[in-house]
Amino acid sequence: MEIRFRDSRAETLKSDLLIVPVYEQKWETPTVRAVDRGLKGKLREQIRRSKFTAAEGSTLLYATAGMLPALHVLLIGLGKEKDIANQTWRKIAARARKEAAALGAEDIAFYFAPEQDPPEAAGAIVDGILLASYQFTKYRSNSKSPADLKRLTLFRPGLTASSAMRAAVRNAEQAAPGVFLARDLVNEPPSITTARFLGEQAEKHCHGRGLSVEVWGKKKIEAMKLAGLLAVNRGSHEEPRFITIRYKPPGKVKKRVALIGKGITFDSGGLSLKPAKSMETMKLDMAGGAAIIGAMSRLPQLRPEVEVLGYIPTTDNLPGGNAQKPGDVIRYLNGKTIEVLNTDAEGRLILADALALAARQRPDYMVNLATLTGACMVALGPEVAGLFSNHPPLAADLIRCGGETGEKLWQLPLVREYRENLKSPIADMKNVGGPHGGAITAALILQEFVNDIPWAHLDIAGPAYTEGDQPLCPKGGTGFGVRTLLRFLSKL
Ligand code: BES
Ligand code: MN
Ligand code: ZN
Repeated sequence: MEIRFRDSRAETLKSDLLIVPVYEQKWETPTVRAVDRGLKGKLREQIRRSKFTAAEGSTLLYATAGMLPALHVLLIGLGKEKDIANQTWRKIAARARKEAAALGAEDIAFYFAPEQDPPEAAGAIVDGILLASYQFTKYRSNSKSPADLKRLTLFRPGLTASSAMRAAVRNAEQAAPGVFLARDLVNEPPSITTARFLGEQAEKHCHGRGLSVEVWGKKKIEAMKLAGLLAVNRGSHEEPRFITIRYKPPGKVKKRVALIGKGITFDSGGLSLKPAKSMETMKLDMAGGAAIIGAMSRLPQLRPEVEVLGYIPTTDNLPGGNAQKPGDVIRYLNGKTIEVLNTDAEGRLILADALALAARQRPDYMVNLATLTGACMVALGPEVAGLFSNHPPLAADLIRCGGETGEKLWQLPLVREYRENLKSPIADMKNVGGPHGGAITAALILQEFVNDIPWAHLDIAGPAYTEGDQPLCPKGGTGFGVRTLLRFLSKL
């Protein structure tokens, strides 16, 4: 898709669809009036008749029948001026994308006059247009994919493209394929997305300048004593994998960052079996790993001045004659031991290995993404990830980046007192705490393996997967975290 900026005073813009965003109760702007004049007052009439108020997300479509250089005009409600955020632009643009698809429009012109931060708004509009175009249709026999958009023109009288605006648009364009890759990996059925498949996908998608992948099989995992990964893998017929992705920037290295992602390709709960309903979406349990593969696959294009190490321990979690049993004890490579009382609390078991391994490299920051606890979903609902950190500046940075990308992060506390709940009669700790504060006890277990390195844990159990269609994402994997990670890395 070609994206361009135009001064509408300097040229007449032809398009299939002209998008005009308007504030609630304030639709009578010079732009709308000009369009209305072109349509001989018909637009005004239609607004009156349809009682269009420009409430957020409301729309009014008008076919121009050749009276304007655009075939259709779409007014989109922005809601109240004071409530406008980048996320509003993303959603409006997503709406425009869907309308364009319905009309078969390939060339859309978007009236662009944001009150605040034009570069961020331009980036958000491109985010919205691109993210909303995602579909996962490979298993449908009758899928018709809508026409691709060929061109998006952002315009207003006197508009000139600043370099910041161009950069924001470029960043949005570069991130989208990473989001789509993460969504694809999650949406793919779990018997396809095995640990081996995930390793192959990392190798396939993570190459290019500065990027390399190493995938360890079972033998190497045994030799490296990744005891948590091996314990969870015992019930499976599939071999585990441990994926390492490295990115070295061409120029100077400002910081070294380790990204760790949970890669449970299917979580049945193991012998502590989940009920059928809870298992329906458990192919999502590698979404943390998928986000890291998706984000890192874009680094050769984005070229941040940081060295990035991605670690993804991956296996499915199944019951079986050889499966780990409640009461088993795992001895980790840093010497710590965990008594496994619930085999469904498996994410922390495999992340412990990866965090310990990552910590040995002494990176400046460690950030892990994991669909770790249902408790976090209970606490924050389906759209917000829980963030835990031992380093307030890192937490603040990530939360700010999340605010900018529209991926909501909310900090939860690492309550030291709750470590009491993890006491085991025979090992250093158990893998489950008491009945309350489950997201926190899970985070406290992870913290035991980070060795005081500045670290943040994102519990993405809620936002990794959407149970219904959303403006920016159809039902299924969301690719949550990819854009926030990329923004975080490019701003370090
Ligand atoms: N993968 C699940 C967490 C999850 C639940 C992710 C729902 C997305 C949606 C995790 O492995 C799990 O089973 N956690 C248990 C922990 C419990 C046994 C302490 C949970 O949340 O119930
Ligand atoms: Mn589980
Ligand atoms: Zn899990």
